[in-house]
Amino acid sequence: MTVDIKKMRFEDLGAVVELENELFSPPWSYNSFVTELNSELRSCLVAVDRGKVIGYAIGAMFYDEVHIMSIGVTTNYQRSSVATKLMVELLNYAYYNNSNRVLLEVRASNKPAIALYTKFGFAPVGVRKKYYTHPVEDALVLIAEGINDNDYKLRFESIKDKLRVN
Ligand SMILES: CC(C)(COP(=O)(O)OP(=O)(O)OC[C@H]1O[C@@H](n2cnc3c(N)ncnc32)[C@H](O)[C@@H]1OP(=O)(O)O)[C@@H](O)C(=O)NCCC(=O)NCCS
Repeated sequence: MTVDIKKMRFEDLGAVVELENELFSPPWSYNSFVTELNSELRSCLVAVDRGKVIGYAIGAMFYDEVHIMSIGVTTNYQRSSVATKLMVELLNYAYYNNSNRVLLEVRASNKPAIALYTKFGFAPVGVRKKYYTHPVEDALVLIAEGINDNDYKLRFESIKDKLRVN
C-alpha cells in the first residue's frame, strides 16, 4: 500500500462525499466541501491509494490558529497510519502559517479519534454541551498548544520518523 497525501480537487468531491457519508452522522453536504475548497484559508487534503481517495482532512486558519475541521479514513484502511499522514500535513500547514496552536472538536465518545489526537499532543481544554446532533452528544475541545516549543517539535519529529520506518 502506497498512500499519497495530495491537495483535494473539485474532481475528488464525489469520492470525498461518499467517504463523508460512510463515516459521519450527520455528514457534511457536497456544497459544504465546495465552500471549503473555494476558501483560501484552508488546507483541503486527500489520501490516495492507486488513484482511489481513501481519506481526507481539512484544516482552516482562523486568526493565528489552525482548526481541524474534519478528518476521516475509510474503514478498511483504518489503523494503517493514513490519518497520521494527514495530521502531519495539517501540522505542516500550521507551521507554514506561523501558527502556534491547533484545535478541534471531537465527539466525547470517539475513542479512536481522541487517541489519534492525543498521539499528536492534543489535550482537552473544554466541553461544548450537546454540540453534535444525530446522536446528540457533547464535544470535547482539544488543543495542541505551543507547537513551536522544542518538546512539541520532538514529538512531531518522532511521529514522522516512525512513518518513514513503516
Ligand atoms: C479517527 C480516524 C481518522 C483514525 O484514522 P486511522 O487512519 O485509523 O489512524 P492511524 O492509523 O493514523 O492511527 C493513529 C493513532 O490513532 C490511534 N487510533 C486510531 N484508531 C484507533 C482505534 N480504533 N483504537 C484506538 N486507537 C486508535 C492510535 O493511537 C494510532 O496510533 P498507533 O497506530 O501508533 O497506535 C478514523 O478512525 C476515522 O476515520 N474515524 C471515523 C471518522 C472520525 O471519527 N473522524 C474524527 C472526527 S473528530
